Amino acid sequence: MAERTFVMVKPDGVGRRLIGKIIGRYEAKGLKLVGLKLQVISRDLAGKHYAEHAEKPFFPDLVKFITSGPTVQMVWEGNNAVEVVRAMNGATNSLKAAPGTIRGDLGLSMQNNVVHASDSVDTAKHEISLYFSDKEVCPHPMPDEHWLI
Ligand code: CMP
Repeated sequence: MAERTFVMVKPDGVGRRLIGKIIGRYEAKGLKLVGLKLQVISRDLAGKHYAEHAEKPFFPDLVKFITSGPTVQMVWEGNNAVEVVRAMNGATNSLKAAPGTIRGDLGLSMQNNVVHASDSVDTAKHEISLYFSDKEVCPHPMPDEHWLI
């Protein structure tokens, strides 16, 4: 199975009507969308997702922000999907993210940085399982796949 990663469009990305633009970037790259949801996540789920940051000073604001409106959860599949998506997203701080990256082109903030993506294959497995049941991830063949392996 090709590598999978988890991506979330944050409330700023949804509120600024950037969902289509963001999905379009990953699709154009050749990644395959195999899971998709839109929901306002609970504080409990946000706490589980960002557990590694629980002791950081920005954690309360991060939970408030990420639960403040709808977010889009996605599972993307493809060669080196984790690393490829992180490179496409750019540096965490949108102010420092390179032009050409999603945050570099679409953001101006550290906290409100448009997208989240898994930072390793193990994290991706964990984050996918937080948001999706096995049945909600839909692997499917695509006719152009032989060009993308
Ligand atoms: P993300 O890639 O989702 O991982 C953790 C999130 O916390 C990060 O994107 C930012 O939204 C936020 N974050 C990280 N560092 C800081 C910081 N120093 N100040 C405020 N928010 C931060």
